Amino acid sequence: MCEIYHLHLIITIMTTQELQIAFEEAYGRKAEKMYFAPGRVNLIGEHTDYNGGCVFPCALSFGAWLLIAPNTDKVLRFKSLNMPQTYEIAIDKIAPQPDRAWCNYSLGCMAIIARRHPEAKLEQGYDLLYYGNVPAGAGLSSSAAMEVVTARAFTEEMGWKDTDDKAYRTELALIGQACEHEYAGVMCGIMDQFASAQGKKDHAIYLNCDTMEFEHVPVKLEGIKVVITNTHSPHHLDSGAYNDRVRQCQLAVEQISKVKPIKNLAELTEEDWREVEGAISDPIAKKRARHVVGEVARTADAVEALKKGEIAYFGELMTASHVSLRDDYEVTGPELDALAEAAWQVEGVLGSRMTGGGFGGCTVSLVKDEAIETFKAFVGSEYEKKTGLKADFYVAEIGDGVKALI
Ligand code: GLA
Repeated sequence: MCEIYHLHLIITIMTTQELQIAFEEAYGRKAEKMYFAPGRVNLIGEHTDYNGGCVFPCALSFGAWLLIAPNTDKVLRFKSLNMPQTYEIAIDKIAPQPDRAWCNYSLGCMAIIARRHPEAKLEQGYDLLYYGNVPAGAGLSSSAAMEVVTARAFTEEMGWKDTDDKAYRTELALIGQACEHEYAGVMCGIMDQFASAQGKKDHAIYLNCDTMEFEHVPVKLEGIKVVITNTHSPHHLDSGAYNDRVRQCQLAVEQISKVKPIKNLAELTEEDWREVEGAISDPIAKKRARHVVGEVARTADAVEALKKGEIAYFGELMTASHVSLRDDYEVTGPELDALAEAAWQVEGVLGSRMTGGGFGGCTVSLVKDEAIETFKAFVGSEYEKKTGLKADFYVAEIGDGVKALI
């Protein structure tokens, strides 16, 4: 096992050989298959996915690994190199386990594969070993990585696999999302699982979450890095506050539909918004909807800017996104605000914003190479002064989506 130092954040990397050894230590025999699925960072397009809007995430080079070998006992044995709890579940007793058991992410995927693909059957038991190196609670989609890696492994084991690779990857994302809804209770959009399934090295994914059409856009940033900063804030993505946002947006859709029938908030242009905003009587729902309409427009503009190499404008849109998430969507909180606001003051920072669900987690910033040291020093010390917490910094490497390793 080796540890690589990306600025401050220590990411533990295990080779496939080391993971094989860990499997042998856990189960006394070799794993037959090994898969990897990445976490993600979203560049822009936040809280738009469940509103039928566009998002622009990238898969990361860290994520979740799964090693498996069939057993003859008709049980699923779950072990993880990150979690002390182990589980043993009979293959005909797949159901959510109590106390937020981590194996629910895996069981959920198996149950959903069987439901969505009646020909898929779990006919034998398996020994499973998971390992993840996405910083926990950082809003970089460690749970989506676990869902997608499980969906990849078990669609194959259960005997269903689409021969069209693109359609297959989208289906893996949909299985993961359904698992998050039904087994974790977070009514998330499709972005995280989609990025984990469809990621491409050095590209971001411009995804229309309504139609699921997408495009890989090269991320070419001469002399500029994508820097992820972790708040290490103790609040994790709070499913209660997240699900509240989903409901508030639905309320806005219902109220707007009285004057202009719509299915999703993302259908509204900024011009439409000026015509319909008066129809929303609930002041909270109005603010949420205003964020979504603005963010959808910013995301489209940002993608164009990146394609044209207008990185300064891309950065401005990222910053505007944070302001809207802070003031209208109210998902940032003091830690994310402290990081972003400090970053905006550093010369050589083109833009900085929260990424992911919010309420803690990480920011994503575009920083010129020569400004990275100042960025770390200034943002790190301002953050500590304001919150008493230490931030971690990581230069993102954009990686591929889910894959089989052996
Ligand atoms: C979480 C959810 C995503 C998305 C983001 C906010 O990461 O899982 O579906 O809604 O929050 O953009």
